[in-house]
Amino acid sequence: MRLDKFLCHATGLSRSRAQGVIRGGQVEVAGVLVRKPSQSIPSGAEVWFRGEPIALSGKRYLMLHKPTGVICATEDAQHRTVLDLLPAELRRGLHIAGRLDADTTGLVLLSDDGEWTHRITSPRRGCAKIYRVGLAEPVAADTQARLAEGIMLRNEDKPTLPAELEVLGPQEVLLTLHEGRYHQVKRMFAALGNRVVTLQRERIGALTLDPALAPGQYRPLSDEEVALF
Ligand code: URA
Repeated sequence: MRLDKFLCHATGLSRSRAQGVIRGGQVEVAGVLVRKPSQSIPSGAEVWFRGEPIALSGKRYLMLHKPTGVICATEDAQHRTVLDLLPAELRRGLHIAGRLDADTTGLVLLSDDGEWTHRITSPRRGCAKIYRVGLAEPVAADTQARLAEGIMLRNEDKPTLPAELEVLGPQEVLLTLHEGRYHQVKRMFAALGNRVVTLQRERIGALTLDPALAPGQYRPLSDEEVALF
């Protein structure tokens, strides 16, 4: 593995920060100062950062900016999956913590730590998911009240949990959900006589999609971000 990639995954630094600290002479491999971010690490070599040994943590925690046209599955014969956006050495054993539709963009969390992903997806915990929604029609005056009361979706026997609405513009809102039903945002707005035309997940709990990530890019989470769940 390249030294900059190793440093990212071992410390949670972004790729550009990792390259900066390597060029700045803060990293040693097998006792030798290395200033070349692309240097590959011989297997078994110790890596030291700011005078401390570092190692790849046993667990991987990633955020990814899902583009449209990519599906949230770990494998699929026909479509590109979110795992296809990751280097092969990172993919093994990853779970997706909350799926998005193929045409939805935004924050997807992935980890091989099943207890961590369960804390995000467990209905009992009601972890908030915040979506930026573009609508075909202007937001009706009673939308906020109806979302707060809960909406009965077609073919379901329980209304949705109270959801919070922030109106950003005549046809743009932020919607906070505390559950994750199939196509939930689209079905909620359909039940209200509107139609979702764009959908992006911006936040899960207290973790916001990193604005530095372009669609299709990912980065490891820092320890502080992992500890949010
Ligand atoms: N609700 C939807 O309708 N689609 C998504 O991808 C996520 C939430």
